[in-house]
Amino acid sequence: MTDKGYKGISMEGALARWYDAGNAKSASRYDEQVAMVRQRAPKGARVLEVAPGPGHLSIALAATGDYTVTGLDISETFVSIARGRALEAGVPVDFRLGNASAMPFDDDTFDFLVCCAAFKNFSDPVGALREMRRVLRPGAAGLILDLRKDVSKQAVDADVARMRMGTVSKLFTRLALRSFLPRRAYTKAEFEGLLSGVGFGSYEVRQTPLTLEVELRK
Ligand SMILES: C[S@@+](CC[C@H](N)C(=O)[O-])C[C@H]1O[C@@H](n2cnc3c(N)ncnc32)[C@H](O)[C@@H]1O
Repeated sequence: MTDKGYKGISMEGALARWYDAGNAKSASRYDEQVAMVRQRAPKGARVLEVAPGPGHLSIALAATGDYTVTGLDISETFVSIARGRALEAGVPVDFRLGNASAMPFDDDTFDFLVCCAAFKNFSDPVGALREMRRVLRPGAAGLILDLRKDVSKQAVDADVARMRMGTVSKLFTRLALRSFLPRRAYTKAEFEGLLSGVGFGSYEVRQTPLTLEVELRK
């Protein structure tokens, strides 16, 4: 494990702001994620989003009025962007700074947990899974969505085509999704290997053309 908590360069400063600008326009991705969480998390649930980045999903979940939402991200810039966005939206989300593999929460705190487009970046993936299990209450569920390592070029191109961003941003995003990001990501079998010793009561790893969908239950 490295100390910094993530693989590659940090998502701070200009890089975080560039990511935020691109993703603010791709609202449909977050709409799908909100729907997936709503199918799984009971009303009144305390929900943790691990690595929320600019905070769209957490804010949309809190705006439903059905959940108490906490976000934990290692990037100071993203925590600041997310806090500002929540304030602007008038929606209460507790955005905290911290590492997925050393979470600042008590055992058995959350009723549901979600983590999107981030897991592949964690430098201590098993440590992060152990922490996810620790902070979930017994019987509670979690959902991890992330790029699959063996994603096809066609699946990447179809996803980028849906994104509402400028030509240069699209080119960079396509390059990232076709080259260095899959190298950090996991196949279904690799993810099952990571999960095997963590002690979740049950788990399932499904594949879509673009992503792995990992369902967890403590
Ligand atoms: C590609 S962004 C995804 C953000 C958001 N989930 C989304 O779907 O737009 C990856 C996020 O993971 C965060 N991250 C990376 N390593 C982390 C760690 N060890 N603990 C917490 N957050 C981490 C980054 O700061 C960044 O916000």
